[in-house]
Amino acid sequence: MTLKKLVAGNWKMHGLSSDLDEIQSIATQAQRYPGVDVALCVPAILVERAARAVPGFAIGGQDVHHAEKGAHTGCTSASMLLDAGASLTIVGHSERRDAQREGDAEVQAKAHAALACGLNVILCVGESLQVREGGNAVRTVVDQLDASIPHDPTEEAELAIAYEPIWAIGTGKIPTMPEIAEMHAAIRNKLVERYGDAGASVRILYGGSVKASNAGEIFAIQDVDGALVGGASLKAADFIPIVAAAAG
Ligand code: PGA
Repeated sequence: MTLKKLVAGNWKMHGLSSDLDEIQSIATQAQRYPGVDVALCVPAILVERAARAVPGFAIGGQDVHHAEKGAHTGCTSASMLLDAGASLTIVGHSERRDAQREGDAEVQAKAHAALACGLNVILCVGESLQVREGGNAVRTVVDQLDASIPHDPTEEAELAIAYEPIWAIGTGKIPTMPEIAEMHAAIRNKLVERYGDAGASVRILYGGSVKASNAGEIFAIQDVDGALVGGASLKAADFIPIVAAAAG
């Protein structure tokens, strides 16, 4: 099945009011590619201003708390992101799994919370270099996926998976094309095993050092349904060529 590609930017801890012009530029230029879904996941505090600046363009958060509300100092709930104008959120990024010690069960709870309130979710999985070099990448990522994804795909909001090898994030290194193909096929199989036919329409993004120069060959791989882009999403000049590559 060929799915419409999704190219999402992950701005991480980058973005001030002075960057709203760049967001506008990305949103305007993305309109040239109606065959691709484009989104920017910005810091929570910028979501509202970004969403106001680019009506109709998908602005997302980068994390949500699993609880609806309560005594969780410094955290952001899914309904707060939605209220601020977000239509999606990332959950389970490896930088949070690592620095904030988020485990699979917590990532799954976050995904449930976001989907239940109508936010689309990009749920990240990926292996360390040590696991890749030990030959256990596929097994590890499939197990992580199995333990992190929601019990059921919902109809209220869309789940997408991002396969992001930790060693490829921000390093300029990427797996070989056969390695990406092998992983995406294994993720697809697990999604179909878990969700039946609905698993065939969950988009699987690749993330980790995606740039204009490698995007074309990555998007040509079966079951690569888009990309989650970090560093190269901060400037329209770097990001829009990746969107163009997804348009084919
Ligand atoms: P990168 O980051 O594109 O800068 O490697 C990707 C990500 O962490 O989502």
